[in-house]
Amino acid sequence: MSLTVTRVLPADATAAALRADVTEGLTRTPKHLPPKWFYDARGSALFDRITTLPEYYPTRAEREILRARAAEIAAATGARTLVELGSGSSDKTRHLIRALPTLETYLPVDVSETALTAAGRALLADHPGLTVHALVADFQRGLTLPAAPGPRLLAFLGSTIGNLLPGERAAFLKSVHAMLSPGDALLLGTDLVKDERTLLAAYDDAEGVTAAFDKNVLSVLNRELGADFDPSAFTHVALWDAEREWIEMRLRARKELSVKIPALDLVIGFEEGEEIRTEVSAKFREEGVRAELAAAGLTLHRWWTDTAGRFALSLSVREE
Ligand code: AVJ
Repeated sequence: MSLTVTRVLPADATAAALRADVTEGLTRTPKHLPPKWFYDARGSALFDRITTLPEYYPTRAEREILRARAAEIAAATGARTLVELGSGSSDKTRHLIRALPTLETYLPVDVSETALTAAGRALLADHPGLTVHALVADFQRGLTLPAAPGPRLLAFLGSTIGNLLPGERAAFLKSVHAMLSPGDALLLGTDLVKDERTLLAAYDDAEGVTAAFDKNVLSVLNRELGADFDPSAFTHVALWDAEREWIEMRLRARKELSVKIPALDLVIGFEEGEEIRTEVSAKFREEGVRAELAAAGLTLHRWWTDTAGRFALSLSVREE
């Protein structure tokens, strides 16, 4: 039984990336911030609450598929190593780990060291024979995996891939291809295109948890960069872009205002109604997923949806 945690990201890389992202994103028009900055301790707790909301179906739908298909995934891959990108609390992965009799090594990858350590400990309590090697890393910045026995299954769940823009998605899938050896597999979770009402409700719930989650990014900038955002001066907005087939979350200034960001030596002006795009959450179709995978050298072999057809898990392999 063993748990090792390796920090691939230098401790100050996160701070430097935040500064660069905020400078770039808030000094251009339209303003935008990358969604990865939502997830401090409070943001992660808010996201966990979102996953239990009646309106937010993706987590339940994906869990339904994982439960139903874990044995098939295990049989199809025979995985000895499971790599999980953006593992968070490793909650859904439990079904998979329980179903993989051949599994020896679990490699969770996340930017949050606290989440990794807690999840690693909890998993080891249930699976004392497992080698858990957690990596503190940003998978969007070309990750080299430590040596681990093959065949390897790389899981990227929760439709987190939908947070990437199309160009970023293509680059990401190429880097996944590079992480895999021939015969290794990718298990990808993708939320599907559906009626606008269902989608909008999922990103603008009645209790306002998603609104609090959205505004939390402003609190992160206040704490990390000494900014003086008043979160209550912004309204949470969710909208469906039917052409690009993605949800956008935005924060809209209720009135004209100016915000100081001392750590960046910046003063940012907002006009009344001006918005910051805080998240893109793309929704997918089978043919699109197949084509994006193929462009990265991955062949889609299996496509499973929940019974209501809201969410898909796909299994693809690196050939040759
Ligand atoms: C964790 C990125 C999959 O896009 O649905 C939830 C994040 N944003 N509610 C998503 C999120 C608003 C979520 N992902």
